[in-house]
Amino acid sequence: MTIAWGTLFGIGVGPGDPDLITLKALKVLKSVGHIFAASSTKNEYSLALDIVRRHLNGRNVERLPFPMTKAADVLTAAWEENAQRVLEVLATGKDAAFVTLGDPLTYSTFGYLMQTVKRLAPGVPIITIPGVTSYNAAAALSHVPLTEGEESLYVVSGALGPEKLKEAVNQTDNIVMLKVYRNFAAIYQTIEELGLLDCATCVSRVGLTGETVAYNLRALKDRDLPYLSLLIIKKPRKDGLHD
Ligand SMILES: C[S@@+](CC[C@H](N)C(=O)[O-])C[C@H]1O[C@@H](n2cnc3c(N)ncnc32)[C@H](O)[C@@H]1O
Repeated sequence: MTIAWGTLFGIGVGPGDPDLITLKALKVLKSVGHIFAASSTKNEYSLALDIVRRHLNGRNVERLPFPMTKAADVLTAAWEENAQRVLEVLATGKDAAFVTLGDPLTYSTFGYLMQTVKRLAPGVPIITIPGVTSYNAAAALSHVPLTEGEESLYVVSGALGPEKLKEAVNQTDNIVMLKVYRNFAAIYQTIEELGLLDCATCVSRVGLTGETVAYNLRALKDRDLPYLSLLIIKKPRKDGLHD
């Protein structure tokens, strides 16, 4: 028997401000039969859901538990279980949406879900609706251009420390570093050693309560950052156009 699968939509809800969700995302959220959001296994909280809630008119949202671990086997098992649950819904012919913070394919749980669903059921239609990333919103808030002229941009993660920054700095003009909060002390030290403290902007909680921009990284030395924090680092330009 062939299954008339519903469509899986990956929906980016933007990084915080509920007005930064796209019209297309809103249209899909109104029409789908089922809505999912990832939440930590420790609690039921989902920031993506918080951001989009006012557009949902009280609709029910099912949480898919996402373990906060780096253990590959635990993660794979959890995503297989979550994908099976999504497939159960899609197999009834209903369309389902999975809401994610920022953009669904930028350091996002939707990437894992999408790939697992594809592997388990290659015939399932999947549509991804892009969202405003955290660093696009941070650049807009701080008035720091991400790229100009012929400049290049690397997007790296600080989850394992400053290594990616050290690698990137010789290869690109500008760097965005996400997930900086846990290793901020080591990342700060590396930026200092590279002589880039004056070229780095730290944006926390863009679009959310407690939003901050720090142009002078020195003020953040020895400080704990909120989880939702990122850095935009622009190497000095030879033409001296950066201030
Ligand atoms: C798992 S990644 C999610 C990235 C997201 N999918 C995106 O498109 O930006 C989480 C990291 O994104 C960044 N982030 C997400 N939302 C943010 C916000 N509102 N303000 C500042 N940084 C944010 C932080 O660096 C955080 O550690």
